[in-house]
Amino acid sequence: MTKQILSAAQKNIILIGFMGVGKTTVSAKLGPMLRRKTVDTDQLISERLQMSIPEIFERRGEPFFRSVEHALLSELQPLSGLIIACGGGVVLRADNRNLLRRMGTVVLLTAKAETIYRRISMRTDLPLLRGHMTLSHIQSMQNKRDRLYRETADLTLATDGQSPAAICAEIAALIRP
Ligand code: S3P
Repeated sequence: MTKQILSAAQKNIILIGFMGVGKTTVSAKLGPMLRRKTVDTDQLISERLQMSIPEIFERRGEPFFRSVEHALLSELQPLSGLIIACGGGVVLRADNRNLLRRMGTVVLLTAKAETIYRRISMRTDLPLLRGHMTLSHIQSMQNKRDRLYRETADLTLATDGQSPAAICAEIAALIRP
């Protein structure tokens, strides 16, 4: 069961979940719908470093990316009223999980591994799946992360078979006007 009223109007709404669950798409739609500014952490990191996410992983390595991601979250912490779409691995660090819980209402978007595979199998911009774009690899990454996503989230929405518009409507209905 979901709590009926999840957040005061000006709390941040934070979207987390595995690659391909639709965080970026949902936040881009939800922003104008709720008249809120959106921040996509991957997009912002990429803009600031003037490199694509795969380039950052390739040239600087994952630990560097994770430290930039953490620094960005810390920078966003004092802000309110935003919709923040996080990269799928943000929950890997315990300090990020704690930060996110303090920063606003954390919405976990989920999808079955089959759904994710269908959505992302042609994408080449996901460094952690390069050379491992298989259903079983996605499943095993999901299994490793599932507990971390769930312990961070205030509410969870399954996106299988749902349009981004339907997911936005569900989130909007749960946020106090
Ligand atoms: C990652 C997810 C990506 C991006 C990077 C690492 C992950 O973001 O941050 O490739 O560890 O799950 P999306 O979930 O927005 O694709």
